[in-house]
Amino acid sequence: MYKLDQTQTPLFDALMEYVNNKTIPFHVPGHKKGMGMDNKFKNFVGNNVLSIDVTVFKLVDSLHHPEGPIKKAQELAADAYGADRAFFSINGTSGAIQAMILSVVSHGDKIIIPRNVHKSVTAGIILSGAVPIYIKPEVDRKVGLALGVTPETVEEALKNNPDAKAVLIINPTYYGVAADIKRIADIVHSYDIPLIVDEAHGAHLGFNNRLPMSAISAGADMSAQSTHKIIGSLTQSSLLQVMEKRVDVNKVQQVMNLLQTTSPSYILMASLDVARMQIATKGKELLDRAIDLAEYARREINKIPGLYCFGDEILKKKGVYALDPTKLTISCREMGITGNKLERILAEKYHIQLELSNLFNALAVGSFGDSKEGFDALISALKEISDEYKDLPKENRRMLDIPDIPKQIVAPREAFMGDKTPLPLRESIGCISGEFLMAYPPGIPVLCPGEVITPDIIDYVEDMKDAGLYVQGTEDPDVNYIRILNV
Ligand SMILES: Cc1ncc(COP(=O)(O)O)c(C=O)c1O
Repeated sequence: MYKLDQTQTPLFDALMEYVNNKTIPFHVPGHKKGMGMDNKFKNFVGNNVLSIDVTVFKLVDSLHHPEGPIKKAQELAADAYGADRAFFSINGTSGAIQAMILSVVSHGDKIIIPRNVHKSVTAGIILSGAVPIYIKPEVDRKVGLALGVTPETVEEALKNNPDAKAVLIINPTYYGVAADIKRIADIVHSYDIPLIVDEAHGAHLGFNNRLPMSAISAGADMSAQSTHKIIGSLTQSSLLQVMEKRVDVNKVQQVMNLLQTTSPSYILMASLDVARMQIATKGKELLDRAIDLAEYARREINKIPGLYCFGDEILKKKGVYALDPTKLTISCREMGITGNKLERILAEKYHIQLELSNLFNALAVGSFGDSKEGFDALISALKEISDEYKDLPKENRRMLDIPDIPKQIVAPREAFMGDKTPLPLRESIGCISGEFLMAYPPGIPVLCPGEVITPDIIDYVEDMKDAGLYVQGTEDPDVNYIRILNV
């Protein structure tokens, strides 16, 4: 169990002391507890939140050189998650991921990563100058989504690149699919290099045994977690967990200091402190309720004609070791409308806002902030939509096969920094891309900076556009032009 008293909230308490002392503020921010702020905003948000919007001083400690309540709050966070050290990130998991990468690889080092990484991973690679070695996640063709990577895929990549300096995996995916992370950690460690995990969607793992295993408990060396996405902290606040065996924790602090603002929000950090207390002391029961509610919704959605919401049956598939049941991926492929359309109808007609959508699916994110009433409203709206659309002519959509990963000629950093010229897509074949091309589904980039543009990629992008799907990544929002590297 925990080594520390997880009921403590040292940073929040320090802020309460500041407020209760009725401290006279001759420090930034200039709104001075809201006194200097326009009523339009102040009257809506209220005075309390403004009274803890403070800056670095001894009572409330410094994020860059923590010695007081922030140090204690980070120690409590490490203890709660079973890590050696934890860091507050006020630039979300994006910032924490960049810090993980910069902590373990330098210019020219190889890092093994899945092809379907979040753009913050690519940002970390561009900043560090590392060379990505891509591995392919498994793909579920029925729902058209990328799943996890298998231990065998990681092993093969390491065999072919024994000089790699680190492996990064996403666990779980946005859709709650978890890989066999324990076996992956063992394989990575047999090469004596760190496994770092994008655990943006897993800040609740480890607090309820009905959920997949957390990265740190599976043996990972670092994990970046969007506390704000899943549990009770404010948007932008995340945690970075570190194990010291293969990672230099002092370097991690230096990198975090390099990347983060010198004016971190104490509102965000205090919310992290309290969210950690909440998940550590009440997580099991809160998550039991969240899981029960999501399972109820999954059962009901699966009774609606034309809809499918995958559950444990997906565990049979390659690349899936465990599933986070709080994620509800509502597949409307059989109903014959796109996930994007389903999301739009729910938002515009029913004022129900989902997290995201793609060709075949729309994602509802569950958490312990949900209510039965909320889920009932969603279920009843989905029933109405099904009644309206299930017998209409189907929009016939097929899943398009993703082209092979093209050859990387130039490292992403050089490609990103280099001089570029825009060319019409077809004319760019054979050139080196200076940009990304990503298509949904399944959200896997088809082209990254520094890679050679192939005819297959252009055919694929044109097919995607013809099908009315999102293709993105280029400076040109219509993706008619792509900027190629001047060589
Ligand atoms: C897989 C994944 N990694 C990282 C991030 C970045 O997290 P944050 O929004 O906390 O910066 C996201 C955000 O959606 C994500 O989906």
